[in-house]
Amino acid sequence: MKPAQMERTPFSDLDGQTSEMTAMLLAALEAMGRHPEIKRVRRTAMMALRPEPGARLLDAGSGAGDVARRLAAEVGPDGEVIALDSSAATIAAAVRRHDGSNVRYRIGDVSAIDLPAASVDGVWCERVLQHVDDADVAIGELARVTRPGGRICLIDTDWESLAFDGVPARLGDSIVAHMHGRLTPQQLDMGRTLRRRLLAAGLTDVTATPVTCVFDTPSSAAVVLPMVNPRIPAESWMTPPGVREKWFSHVEEAGARGDFLAILTIWVVTGTR
Ligand SMILES: C[S@@+](CC[C@H](N)C(=O)[O-])C[C@H]1O[C@@H](n2cnc3c(N)ncnc32)[C@H](O)[C@@H]1O
Repeated sequence: MKPAQMERTPFSDLDGQTSEMTAMLLAALEAMGRHPEIKRVRRTAMMALRPEPGARLLDAGSGAGDVARRLAAEVGPDGEVIALDSSAATIAAAVRRHDGSNVRYRIGDVSAIDLPAASVDGVWCERVLQHVDDADVAIGELARVTRPGGRICLIDTDWESLAFDGVPARLGDSIVAHMHGRLTPQQLDMGRTLRRRLLAAGLTDVTATPVTCVFDTPSSAAVVLPMVNPRIPAESWMTPPGVREKWFSHVEEAGARGDFLAILTIWVVTGTR
C-alpha cells in the first residue's frame, strides 16, 4: 500500500487498521447499508444493472458482502456472484456473514483482477473507486472482465456536493472546506466523473443518475457522514482543530430544533460493455 493511499482513507487499507478500527468500519458499512437513503441509492443501482437469473456477477470492493448476497438472490441458484475485496479481514467478515447463497468470496485488487477476460455478465462497484490509486485503471479491469453486452454499474460519492443547513453557515462551510482540503481531487469528485470515465473506457448506453441523499436529523446523517458522528475519535481529521465541540453543539441544537439538514449526492452510473 502506497503511503499516499494510506493517508487518503482507512477504506484504502482496511487491513492496515487496528482490529478495533476495522470492526468499527465494517459495522459502519453495515449501518450504512440499512440507511433508507443508501437503500434508495442501491435500488436505483439494482434497476440500472438489471441482474438476470443465471448471470455471473462481480461485486468489486464488496465490503461485508451484503450487496453480493442480495445480487446472489437476484441471479438465483443458476447464477453466481464473486465478492472481491482487497482486505483479507473484510473478506473474512463477509464469509462469517455468508447465508448459503451462490457467493464466492475472494481477496483481490480491483486494479488487477484475477479473472479471465469477458468472464462475467455484470459488475457492481459501490463506493470503491474513490479509494483506489487510479480509478481508470480499475475501470479498465472491470471492463476487461465483463463480456461484450454485459453491464457495469458504478456507484460513488460526490463529496463536493456535501452541504449543511441549520448550523451557522460559516461553521458548516469550514467543516466542508476542511474535508475538501484533506481529500484528493479523485475522492472529491469521483461520483460525477464516473460517466466520463465509463465513456472513456468505451462503454455504450451509459446512464448517469445522481441520487441526492437528504439527512434531516444528526443521527441519520451520522450513519453516512463521519464529520457528524460524535463517536468518530477527536484525533481523526474529520473536524478542523479547535472547532469540534462548537460544531457538535450546533449540530445537536439544530437537531433539537428540528431544522438540521445535510445533503450529499451519490451517483449511479451504468454502461454496457
Ligand atoms: C467504502 S467500502 C464499500 C464496500 C461496499 N461496496 C459497500 O458499499 O458497502 C470500500 C471497500 O473497497 C475495498 N477496497 C479498497 N480498495 C480496493 C482495491 N484496490 N481492490 C479491491 N477492494 C478495495 C475496501 O477494502 C472496502 O471494503
